[in-house]
Amino acid sequence: MTTTPELAPTSSLITTLPGTSYTDPETFRQEQEKIFERLWFCAVRSADLDKPGAFRTVQVGRESVLITRNRKGELRAFLNICRHRGARLCTEESGENRRNLQCPYHAWTYDFDGKLVAAPNLTSMPDIDRTERGLVTVPLREWLGYAWVCLADEPPSFEDTVIGAAVERLGDAAHIERYRTEGLALGKRITYDVAANWKLIIENFMECYHCATIHPELTDVLPEFADGFAAQYYVGHGAEFAPEAEGFTVDGKGGFGRLPEIAEDQDRRYYAITVRPQVFVNLVPDHVIVHRMFPMAADRTVVECDWLYLPEVVESGADVSSSVELFHRVNQQDFEACERTQPAMDSRAYRDGGVLVPSEHHIGAFHRWVTEQLAGEGA
Ligand code: FES
Ligand code: FE
Repeated sequence: MTTTPELAPTSSLITTLPGTSYTDPETFRQEQEKIFERLWFCAVRSADLDKPGAFRTVQVGRESVLITRNRKGELRAFLNICRHRGARLCTEESGENRRNLQCPYHAWTYDFDGKLVAAPNLTSMPDIDRTERGLVTVPLREWLGYAWVCLADEPPSFEDTVIGAAVERLGDAAHIERYRTEGLALGKRITYDVAANWKLIIENFMECYHCATIHPELTDVLPEFADGFAAQYYVGHGAEFAPEAEGFTVDGKGGFGRLPEIAEDQDRRYYAITVRPQVFVNLVPDHVIVHRMFPMAADRTVVECDWLYLPEVVESGADVSSSVELFHRVNQQDFEACERTQPAMDSRAYRDGGVLVPSEHHIGAFHRWVTEQLAGEGA
């Protein structure tokens, strides 16, 4: 038998944000400035940059951020802008610079720590301070094997705003640490280009009301989700696997054995965490699924989803497809639902928004959080 936490009935209806919040370009611009450019943003999986000079560029708010590895093997993040005349330095999404970072316009050259090291006729410009004219550094922290960057002049506490999300959800940070996500290997990555506003994707992820309707494979493994309650948002609660499910797979087959450090009470359970503003982490006994959202426009969000397993599982060439397929289907079902909703946000029928069922008070809290951030009241 599975258990569902008790839900306190509430009499007052919670309404959603108004429809224009999901379509208005000016609202999106404000969100870029006041949310994505102020908070820690999960940019890249650290192991993707596997050697000095390997780089990835990502859109963070209105800025392009370049993340690379220096000669000492440390990750560095910079605004992807040449300090000479402002040309975009790296135009590719990813790649490898073998010797240094050279601007394709007039060949100003920076080392992997961002220092200006060469420029044509630099000797004729004695007033150029090479340190002053280096690339603009962006603060970077690593957690769960990912590089998080922050464009704020004074970044908020990483411990409170990022790690704190796991503590808030799971009761303590040790819970997530036991999955040792930073030591896992990439078994599969799928990128989804979703024609929907980023908030619809977050709300959908936090919601369980739709599970019985659109996620038959998921509710086979996690029967309590079929009740429509967002059980994953009760502190410390993990949804229990169905007795007949051997693993978190599309066909109920066994997975790859428990990750070595997770506790007995974490076994055969699914935990989901939202790290605002753009990360979802799913924890199951033998793998971890990490979604990073990249909001590109009011009506477009790119989602990169990683399935992470023990290195020996990936190195052995084991078939991970039945566990990948389960959440890939969930993603497709969720994103299709978001894309069906997006065009209606502009309708006069949705001018004042919609309603949330009482068990979704945490989605109401998300809406309040967005509103506070835009009013400049949030951290
Ligand atoms: Fe980059 Fe001139 S703009 S070298
Ligand atoms: Fe869903």
